[in-house]
Amino acid sequence: MCGIIGYIGNRQVSNVLINGLKRLEYRGYDSAGLCILENGNLEILKKAGKVYELEKLINHQQYTSTIGIAHTRWATHGEPNDINAHPHTDCNSKIAIVHNGIIENYFSIKKQLQAKGFTFKSETDTEVLAVLIGAIYEKCQNLEIAVRTALSEVTGTFGLLVLSSYEPDKIIAARRGSPLVLGISKNEFIISSDATAIIQYTSQVVYLSDNEIAIVTNNQFTTKTMNNQETKSIIHKLDLNLEQLEKNGFEHFMLKEIYEQPNTLNDAFRGRLLVDEGTIKLGGLRSVYDKFRNVRRLILTACGTSWHSALVGEYLIEHLAQIPVEVEYASEFRYRNPIIYPDDIVIAISQSGETADTLAAVNEAKNKGATVLGIVNVVGSSIARATDAGIYIHAGPEIGVASTKAFTSQLAVLTMLAIMLGRMRNLSAIEAKKIINELANIPDKLKKILENAEHIKAIAKKYCKSSNFLYLGRGYNFPVALEGALKLKEISYIHAEGYPAAEMKHGPIALIDENMPVVFIATQDEIYEKILSNIEEVRARKGKVIAIATEEDEVIKNYANELIYIPKTLPMLTPILAVVPLQLMAYYISVELGCNVDQPRNLAKSVTVE
Ligand code: G6P
Repeated sequence: MCGIIGYIGNRQVSNVLINGLKRLEYRGYDSAGLCILENGNLEILKKAGKVYELEKLINHQQYTSTIGIAHTRWATHGEPNDINAHPHTDCNSKIAIVHNGIIENYFSIKKQLQAKGFTFKSETDTEVLAVLIGAIYEKCQNLEIAVRTALSEVTGTFGLLVLSSYEPDKIIAARRGSPLVLGISKNEFIISSDATAIIQYTSQVVYLSDNEIAIVTNNQFTTKTMNNQETKSIIHKLDLNLEQLEKNGFEHFMLKEIYEQPNTLNDAFRGRLLVDEGTIKLGGLRSVYDKFRNVRRLILTACGTSWHSALVGEYLIEHLAQIPVEVEYASEFRYRNPIIYPDDIVIAISQSGETADTLAAVNEAKNKGATVLGIVNVVGSSIARATDAGIYIHAGPEIGVASTKAFTSQLAVLTMLAIMLGRMRNLSAIEAKKIINELANIPDKLKKILENAEHIKAIAKKYCKSSNFLYLGRGYNFPVALEGALKLKEISYIHAEGYPAAEMKHGPIALIDENMPVVFIATQDEIYEKILSNIEEVRARKGKVIAIATEEDEVIKNYANELIYIPKTLPMLTPILAVVPLQLMAYYISVELGCNVDQPRNLAKSVTVE
């Protein structure tokens, strides 16, 4: 969370910074600010609200500067107002910083600095770091030394950019725990929290490592450890294009991403489905095949939507490969001293590859000797780089804060993994072929659901004024119920709960009355009859039933107030299809209520703080 960008080169910097912030805005949108060096002085503009508000401030200014830093904020310390917005400066207003992360010991450092007479304007942890750098600079008169020394005194996480009128020819960047990418072009450099703000200028990038610092001037850059040892940088080529970052005619990124799913699923499958051999090829796992043969237990760890896909993964892997699986919230896993055996494999699932809790869980599992793998979307992200091996889901950039296409691609990858593991054990080639063939049909079946969007929109309109929703499913569809409820609350602010359908009678049933819409994922599988009984229980209490059902199911018509059909498939593949109407329903309800679909309040796409 929080996006930062810095530029040094020959372009008019305020435009570069504003364009970059717009790309990074999905990371946080509580406030935005920038600092440029104009005629040797630091010029700072910052404003609560979206980047658009900052842009309005700049519009009538005629800046010529070609060096600057900027920030879009997701508030952690201090409310999202103008004063708490970044950049923050030292007491002399000669050193400005933008920061993504949290300085955990800010309070004690602040007290020490206040005792020495330093004063503060904001409530943020970041300002403490700026003032500390300034205090050290007063003694050593060297910006790089001041930054390195200050960073050795702080605990916590940072992706940091520093600009100073003392040494106006450079930007200093530093990273611990929060990502930073350095884009390299001819006589210009762009440093950003992620590559989406860079691709417009260059596809050549260096990913800074943890505890690395970069000193960037107009025509060169040097990377070092915090202890002043020079490090060797590897230049990577970005596999990203600008079109992927645009809405391409859709009203919102979320809608575009929902409609991309037939393609993104095909991208996840490409080259991996070996139909004739009845198996799956996952090249990224080649180095750990032997570990999989001997694995005693798998632990899947993730947050948010990715945690829901982990739950489906548990069902899939236990079903097809008969390997015990545990699913852990990354935030719990990292702090509860989990028992991990050397022959355990831990798999972290993350769209962004930057979620702080998931990254910390990866490090915890590594420290305990497990083999740690990643199922990640963003190539080159921190989790992708911290894991021993992994599988990219290849869903392309996901910009809408509510995850959609990443979820279905994660499910596709987990299904392939389960088949691969099953084939290493007792799954027959014939059975595997049947599943793989059906997997290959899923993108076309998903297209059919999208063709039904108008019907789903009408249902959304009818129920959008409800204050609460319940989502119920069983077996493979239980995690889908959780994901459906999460989608709705994220973007429409309607209270929604997902539950295993049979658990309803142990509590949530008390909530049901004629005002409660209950969404049942009631596809035809071995427990279909049971879910019909659960529907009856809701109907008996006058709840309104919205059913996601298998096409041609006539029986369900007698049970549901509203019916959304999805194509028939294997029960284990149902989640990939069943979630799509729920994504669309949440989307249309959000639009109907006039909410900000792509940037819902209080949320951020990439949660890089604990
Ligand atoms: C945030 C996002 C969610 C996402 C979760 C985990 O809360 O808003 O959409 O599911 O983080 O993110 P990850 O990138 O690790 O999958």
